[in-house]
Amino acid sequence: MIHKIAVLTSGGDAPGMNAAVRAVIRAGLVAKKEMYVIYDGFRGLLEGNIKQVNKDFTQDIINRGGTIIRSARLKEFLEVEAQKKAAEILKDFGIDALVGIGGDGTYRGLAALAKQGVRVVGIPATIDNDVGSTDKTIGFATALNTICECVDKLKDTSSSHQRCSLIEVMGRHCGDLALFSALAEGAEGVICVEHPLDEESLFKRLRKMKDEKKDHAIIIVSENLLDINELAKKVEKETGFTTRTEVLGRLQRGGSPVAEDRILAARFSAHAIELLVDNKVKSGRIVGMKHSVIVDYDIEEAIQMKHETASGLPELIEMLQ
Ligand code: F6P
Repeated sequence: MIHKIAVLTSGGDAPGMNAAVRAVIRAGLVAKKEMYVIYDGFRGLLEGNIKQVNKDFTQDIINRGGTIIRSARLKEFLEVEAQKKAAEILKDFGIDALVGIGGDGTYRGLAALAKQGVRVVGIPATIDNDVGSTDKTIGFATALNTICECVDKLKDTSSSHQRCSLIEVMGRHCGDLALFSALAEGAEGVICVEHPLDEESLFKRLRKMKDEKKDHAIIIVSENLLDINELAKKVEKETGFTTRTEVLGRLQRGGSPVAEDRILAARFSAHAIELLVDNKVKSGRIVGMKHSVIVDYDIEEAIQMKHETASGLPELIEMLQ
């Protein structure tokens, strides 16, 4: 029987993490559990930075970006010694189960704790939408909207100056932010792992646009693939377009979560607590959403699952150009 549940956020922060922290705590309190927060992710866990909370803690955080219990990336947590120590600390606090909110890295930390006998549940939250066990992660919708707001603004100036804008978006190794924003913005091109750069066809398209007197272009580029400044030089040389680059960077991770992310946070969190209350977590489970239905998987199985980007998006973007 589970009495005490702790929650932490880990990895790159994502809008909606606070909404998830709120929902986890409130759902736990409704089920008459003692609720705890762990500050600073797995680092805070190793430092015993753990505090019991009540409903007051969750007031007015549903709309706030970032994570009020803060986040961290901790390489040392890959070591078994650190994992053992973390399990001991949870035991010392009398905590029976841990809910971790984050992406793949968070799941690996949780899986390691599960091996040390801790009952864990993972809730997917990352702007990258790169988690195999869910169609949508908390934070993706907000980041996508943020990108679109930025691209809308860049389009204004790109058009005034008749330029080509190369805009780099996040996503680590997943093209969802690039593909969905390119579709939503009617971009003239998208470059990501699922749709790699084909220089010749890109240059050809841009030259054709020039000939047809379309005087500005937006190309969305996923991070970690190429040097956009080098590409910009080539675009200028090969197409005659004056070209500028923009790296949107971490501003994509900030801001108040859109309703979709808050709702996802509430649904995932309520399900996570339900699994614990119903004693369905023997070791580790991951919550997700598949075809609009809230689901859960064994943590080891979830980690192996590959994220499937909405198929057909590159073709659709091209067809509508
Ligand atoms: O995982 C979220 C993310 O924003 C990725 O898109 C990006 O590659 C990474 O985090 C950047 O992490 P950091 O802020 O730690 O450099």
